[in-house]
Amino acid sequence: PYPAYDRARDVSPVLHEPSADVWMIFDHEGVKRALHEHETFSSVVSPPDNKTSRWLVFTDAPRHTKLRALIMRAFTPRAVGNLEPRIQEWSHQLLDGPLERGSMELVEELAVPLPLRVITQMFGAPQEDLPRFKHWSEVIMALSYFLAGGAEAERAGREFREVTDEMQAYLAELIAQRRAEPREDLLTQLVAAEVDGERLTEEDLLGFFQLLLSAGHETTTNLISNALLCLLEHPEQLARLRADPGLLPLAIEEVLRYRSPVQTMFRVTTRDVPLHGQVIPAGKLVMPMIGSANRDPRKFPDAHRFDITRDPNSHLAFGHGIHFCIGAPLSRLEARIALGVFLERVKHFELASDTPWEPRRAIHVHGPVRLPLRVAGAE
Ligand code: HEM
Repeated sequence: PYPAYDRARDVSPVLHEPSADVWMIFDHEGVKRALHEHETFSSVVSPPDNKTSRWLVFTDAPRHTKLRALIMRAFTPRAVGNLEPRIQEWSHQLLDGPLERGSMELVEELAVPLPLRVITQMFGAPQEDLPRFKHWSEVIMALSYFLAGGAEAERAGREFREVTDEMQAYLAELIAQRRAEPREDLLTQLVAAEVDGERLTEEDLLGFFQLLLSAGHETTTNLISNALLCLLEHPEQLARLRADPGLLPLAIEEVLRYRSPVQTMFRVTTRDVPLHGQVIPAGKLVMPMIGSANRDPRKFPDAHRFDITRDPNSHLAFGHGIHFCIGAPLSRLEARIALGVFLERVKHFELASDTPWEPRRAIHVHGPVRLPLRVAGAE
């Protein structure tokens, strides 16, 4: 998409797309404004009868403020830190088979299962339920097709309603278990969280569960896959990282900028908004194109260069303002551990296919469907 972003930014950083009647914003300044000015750019983008209207990410203040405070009670640095030993263990475990074999499908064998296990663990669900979580997450991701309209959107909506019933029953059982017998997991904390005498309702918890299955899974999957893809494409940067593994945190920030896992979000204007010489009318759907903002040459010197030492790196990959991603520390941790373990154990890797990588099927996320690799460990 990057050449198209460049053209759009040069020609008109605010672009009206008539077929879907949506306004797209392509430059860093404009995207940051759309994310930051939450009174002008509302996050209530789904119809009120739709279950997704209860998701934190699609609410405005004051409901957003209260819901976010409740969730943050549970989503503490300590709760995230507690996951670290498991993430280490799983990263190693997932690499054992591939290293013995000498090959791996990076997406299916590492980038998908790791974040999925983390979410299952946060909810204290047994690991044998992983395939169900995976299916649910795929159905939720397909919802992004609502923009495309037609049969695809209809099917996505129907499947979502079906799995929502299933998830509701599943979650109700887990919640009942936690109420009866609290444990050391995020779900227990969420169930017990209280702000000003208020607690999360079962419906709030279902919304959060669904949101995490999409926001917390596919995104981190793409961060891990995109990181490997960037390093494959830039061997000199890989050599630098191998020579100085301390650069890993900066390298991850650069992957977030260079190949942003979330390419766009959605907003609705609450009034007429003048922006870059145009006026977006009130009540219009807006797409702040994060992936494009992160390649804006007016913000980033040499914006199309992948540079693992880039610092400062004020990318917008996790959003900006009141909706800033609450999973940012967790996904950074997952990426740091997974990539750290990968680089430590895999001494050599290369793409095991001549076909160019194929992007994942969803409108707003960005990453390869498959990344077949030849891998070699220490002699
Ligand atoms: C919000 C990106 C991982 C949970 C957001 C937003 C972005 C984003 C751009 C802002 C949405 C908006 O402004 O409308 C990412 C990326 C990730 C990632 C790129 C990984 C590389 C995670 C993880 C979790 C998570 C691991 C949880 C386990 C959330 C939640 C929100 C959010 C709950 C909504 C916050 C709110 O509305 O106040 N994320 N995310 N995300 N993210 Fe993430």
